[in-house]
Amino acid sequence: MFEKEVFAEPYKIKMVEKIRTITRTEREKLLREAGYNVFNLKSRDVYIDLLTDSGTGAMSDDQWSAMFKGDEAYAGSASFEKLQKAVDDIMGFKYVLPTHQGRGAENVLFSHMVKKDDVVIGNMHFDTTKAHIEVRGAHAIDCVTKEASDPNSDYPFKGNIDIEKLEKLINEYGPARIPLVMITVTCNSGGGQPVSMDNIRKTAAILKKYNIPMFFDAARFAENAYFIRKREDEFKNVPIIQIVREMFSYAAGATMSCKKDAIVNIGGFIAINSPELYQQCTQFCVIYEGFVTYGGLSGRDLAAIAQGLYDGIDYEYLKSRIYQTEYLGNKLREAGVPIIWPIGGHAVYVNAREFLPHIPKEEFVAQALVVQLYIEGGIRSVEIGTVLADRDPATGDNRYPEFDLVRLAIPRRTYTLAHMDVVADAFEKVKKVKDKIKGLRFTYEPKVLRHFTSRFEFVQ
Ligand code: F0G
Repeated sequence: MFEKEVFAEPYKIKMVEKIRTITRTEREKLLREAGYNVFNLKSRDVYIDLLTDSGTGAMSDDQWSAMFKGDEAYAGSASFEKLQKAVDDIMGFKYVLPTHQGRGAENVLFSHMVKKDDVVIGNMHFDTTKAHIEVRGAHAIDCVTKEASDPNSDYPFKGNIDIEKLEKLINEYGPARIPLVMITVTCNSGGGQPVSMDNIRKTAAILKKYNIPMFFDAARFAENAYFIRKREDEFKNVPIIQIVREMFSYAAGATMSCKKDAIVNIGGFIAINSPELYQQCTQFCVIYEGFVTYGGLSGRDLAAIAQGLYDGIDYEYLKSRIYQTEYLGNKLREAGVPIIWPIGGHAVYVNAREFLPHIPKEEFVAQALVVQLYIEGGIRSVEIGTVLADRDPATGDNRYPEFDLVRLAIPRRTYTLAHMDVVADAFEKVKKVKDKIKGLRFTYEPKVLRHFTSRFEFVQ
């Protein structure tokens, strides 16, 4: 997929943060104390932290410089103007409402747009998006292409909307019940898989026919644009900014978690073109987030986002970012570790059920792999499987998703290829003991969002 060339990260390191390894015995003890839930670990006890790529990136010297010039005025801050200009220039949206992070943007937008019994269709809604839809008594429906459920298919755009199904759903529910359609780029819940421009155009054409606005969940929009350039012939050598502008040109707006492709530690926004829609959303922004020119962020945060949006669409940066993810994914695949294929943009997803077939899904096989990976290498990953899926509120039974996955999410500009080697090495160690890895059962299970605070013990 990449030109064969000697490759290195396109940056040099100006400031460092110490990380340390502790002994295997210490890790075993700490994990026992943490109830075998890596959310309960202290960051200082983690060697390489692949829990999330959200808010964990390293800012550039340009971003840090911009922060010093942050304008902390309550209203009309110059940093807000910079953000507005960057969003207009890169995404082509005239109006911006800053929010504290992505889910804040979802809350503000949906407070205006989504009501009880509405239906919001998407490729695969992210958890917080789904929750913000469902908490309003509306329905969140995933409508991703069939290829997404085959972990071994080479299909290059597994984040695509299933166009036929989309039209069927619109006819089934009626356009009046569908306030918007949300395309998540890249599709995090589906393995960080991209959406093609062709699919975006086709989706937009259908929605236009029914007069339904299209929105993007734009958290990883730049990574998506990079994949379009690499995998869609028409965009070979087209500048990323041009691809990004075309993507957003079909949309009524976007929600953004700046903690991803704007490479900041906190922040989000809503971007919109319609002055009426902007006006209607402002009241909710003021109630939930803050005045319309700061939305829960400091002026310096806004300044860092404005610069980060440009950092995030830099071709050399994106190339190295996706290279790093592919480098790790390919190493794991070569070592016989089953992963979701093709490798996604921000993370490698390991198919735990296939890797550890002796552990039944009732014993949280992906969580068991997360645990072993920390024990062997001090690597923190995250379970995307049965624990995350919670129980069915109606029956109280566990929900078993299609896959039990372990996500290795790679923070931006934070680790080097050498760190990826260390992660691959930890998997080699896991492989040696894989048949002896035990399943888990709860010792504490909260009623909701059990992923974060539950505790486990090994099934003997
Ligand atoms: N949309 C997508 C596609 C996301 O991946 C996330 C967050 C959000 C929205 C919400 O944004 O965290 O700024 O409120 N994803 C993180 C993750 C948490 O680890 O994948 P937020």
